[in-house]
Amino acid sequence: MVLKIGLVGCGAIGLEIARAIDRGEVEAELVAVFDRNGDRARELLKGLRGKPRLLELEELVEGSDIVVEAASQRAVPEVARAALGRGRDLMIMSVGALLDPGLRRTVEELARDRGCRVYLPSGAISGLDGLKSAGAGRIDIVTLTTTKNPRGFAGAPYIEDRGIDLSAISKPTVIFEGPAEEAVSAFPANVNVAATLSLTARGARVRVRIVADPDIEVNIHEICAEGDFGRITTRVENVPSPRNPKTSRLAALSAIATLRSIVEPVKIGT
Ligand SMILES: NC(=O)c1ccc[n+]([C@@H]2O[C@H](COP(=O)([O-])OP(=O)(O)OC[C@H]3O[C@@H](n4cnc5c(N)ncnc54)[C@H](O)[C@@H]3O)[C@@H](O)[C@H]2O)c1
Repeated sequence: MVLKIGLVGCGAIGLEIARAIDRGEVEAELVAVFDRNGDRARELLKGLRGKPRLLELEELVEGSDIVVEAASQRAVPEVARAALGRGRDLMIMSVGALLDPGLRRTVEELARDRGCRVYLPSGAISGLDGLKSAGAGRIDIVTLTTTKNPRGFAGAPYIEDRGIDLSAISKPTVIFEGPAEEAVSAFPANVNVAATLSLTARGARVRVRIVADPDIEVNIHEICAEGDFGRITTRVENVPSPRNPKTSRLAALSAIATLRSIVEPVKIGT
């Protein structure tokens, strides 16, 4: 049986996922897409050889085995309830939404009750395999330092609320320091990886530092984790997506790799 995928969100990540499935790089069928911006969905469909249908959320869920959310943190509650409520598996890219304890509980309970799986890809970071193993012991602290060109932070609530002039930043500048829960609300489109780290670290403190550097064109995520296992440090220099500078190309690739791992018989890594 070929896995039927329904895609919610036809932006930078959605497009890469759709193209990979269309090229046969994932043994699955993209059966339907949905985007609240119909033009985005139609544009995505135009470039594909296959013919997924453009459907509303409920119909998309009905015809899919797994629903892939690549839309926004705000979309997650509705998409999760629709998919899990109907017994469909779910992949979430806007992981920051799950730092809301109420939503996380709902997602976990629905998935357990209906026998569904929820997949959270590693996104734009490396090292989750080791952190996952470390979480079976004791993790004391995780720190994430995210450095991007200032334009990658445009539109973030933290920037808008404080009236920060990103174009005036002329040297590397720390613009935020705080816990992961605050970071994902302050920069919902930038540090979903903070939420993924937080969920992997199983309650350990995750501190986030956000740096705007006008002299770089890559999105850098540096992670340091300490616990009774020792210490892990990782650093990724990500190429930003050409369609969305807030999003790294590796995030879309991690979604594709997760879909592959669902359908392939051999699972590699923790
Ligand atoms: N986990 C990670 O590491 C990671 C990395 C990068 C991005 N992300 C997150 O993944 C999501 C997608 O990223 P992207 O770069 O493709 O974003 P994007 O802005 O390029 O595309 C998002 C698309 O979703 C649509 N959309 C938004 N809200 C919707 C809703 N409620 N219902 C249906 N469609 C909706 C938009 O119209 C847009 O076409 C974002 O939330 C982003 O923050 C996660």
